[in-house]
Amino acid sequence: MKKIGSQVTIAIDGPAGSGKSTVARRVAEKLGLLYLDSGAMYRAVTLLAIQDGLAADSLELIERVKACHIEFADNGKTILLNTEDVSVQIRTPAVNRRVADVAKIPEIRHEIVKHQQRIGKEGSIIAEGRDLTTIVFPDADFKFYLDASVTERAKRRLAELKKQNVDTTLAAVEAEISARDEKDKTRAHSPLRAAEDAIIVDTTDKTINEVVDFIIAQVRKMRAA
Ligand code: C5P
Repeated sequence: MKKIGSQVTIAIDGPAGSGKSTVARRVAEKLGLLYLDSGAMYRAVTLLAIQDGLAADSLELIERVKACHIEFADNGKTILLNTEDVSVQIRTPAVNRRVADVAKIPEIRHEIVKHQQRIGKEGSIIAEGRDLTTIVFPDADFKFYLDASVTERAKRRLAELKKQNVDTTLAAVEAEISARDEKDKTRAHSPLRAAEDAIIVDTTDKTINEVVDFIIAQVRKMRAA
């Protein structure tokens, strides 16, 4: 990895429930970085497909994606799809079930990656998802791959869903994220994998703060070197 200059890019990849979003948000706050939740963009496009009754691989959906406007507010906490706040709607079980099928379509990825790379030029950024270290920001200054056991990841997701009053079980959540991981890791275009130069962090037995402190310590260490 190269040494950082004035503009810093930190890229994080990992499977569902590995802690990427929470960790990235906190690092963004602590270091004053822009936060990019790339999964939210694939979720917004999936919502578009559900609302319009379009198949993931339909040409109509690709056209809709090209024409739609996705924007973040509140440093990534809010996502606007054609000016409508869809931050809650994109986290429903219906979107969870379909998002990996939409995200595997190359033309859709192409549009979204272009958009993400534009956001990356706006300033120092921490971005997380499945292909940020490999495809979107291959020259990122810092790369991390977060992972955890599937049961631990399912427990974390279940806790989030309970807060949203979603009635489900650990077994159902584990099945859903395992199915999504499998699709994300085996797709032909931009599959989820750890970049060769990424630092791998197993978060199974770590708290969010421990992971945040580890990432910040790595960034400071490499900056000082
Ligand atoms: O991170 P999150 O769970 O919100 O991502 C939802 C889905 O979006 C992933 O399971 C994956 O199918 C897709 N995704 C992707 N590439 C990214 C981010 C997310 O394919 N960079």
